[in-house]
Amino acid sequence: MEVVIQPGSAEMASLVADEIERLLAAKPDAVLGLATGSSPLAVYEELIRRHRAGRISFARARGFLLDEYVGLPAEHPEGYRNVIEREFAAHVDFADGAVQAPPGAVSSAELPDACAAYERAIAEAGGVDLQLLGIGSDGHIAFNEPGSSLASRTRIKTLTEQTRQDNARFFGGDIDSVPRHCVTQGLGTIMDARHLVLLATGSGKAEAIHQLVEGAVSAMWPATIMQHHPHATVLLDEAAGSRLQ
Ligand code: F6R
Repeated sequence: MEVVIQPGSAEMASLVADEIERLLAAKPDAVLGLATGSSPLAVYEELIRRHRAGRISFARARGFLLDEYVGLPAEHPEGYRNVIEREFAAHVDFADGAVQAPPGAVSSAELPDACAAYERAIAEAGGVDLQLLGIGSDGHIAFNEPGSSLASRTRIKTLTEQTRQDNARFFGGDIDSVPRHCVTQGLGTIMDARHLVLLATGSGKAEAIHQLVEGAVSAMWPATIMQHHPHATVLLDEAAGSRLQ
């Protein structure tokens, strides 16, 4: 695992955008794994900037989201399908239908088939070339909360109290408005991506980053599975890296 410490999110975003620009130049139909939350926002801004400058096209690329809340109305602004549209996809030239999200709005009877179909869609697209990731303060990646199977695939999960508290800021500070469940790619799904790129800023992530880089691989700190990935890059600011030895 490669750990890179940068002064701030602008520098981190520029490095990730360089990597994506190189990938798309070599493989215009590359498959991008897209994260939501605050961590990748500066990357999306930089990609939009480079797209507007004529440097990057997503016309043949595909995107797959990591996760989606369960139980939000389709038009809810914090539904991740809507977030990625607003923050990124609508500002570049993805083809219609090229960005997909896990099935957050199907009945529980239909869910297992819908999750299997999402896994199949990723595989049929050729697998994820570059997966963007944030990390939860409890060590989750996507919404694989502590205790998640290290081999898990796309499925429904219950969000921890900690994650709901952390994400209440997107719901006007009201934890009761944060959904209790999500559909998330599993750790096994994420590990199939060819390159993992995780971004973390701020001291609130320092313990999770310490565990990710220096802890034992354990389902209690789900991100630690990345230690077994052959090509994982972790980009940090000083605060997120402050607990590293
Ligand atoms: C979002 C996701 C989550 C976030 C994590 C960190 O799609 O999968 O794992 O990456 O909760 O969120 P931020 O970046 O908001 O601190």
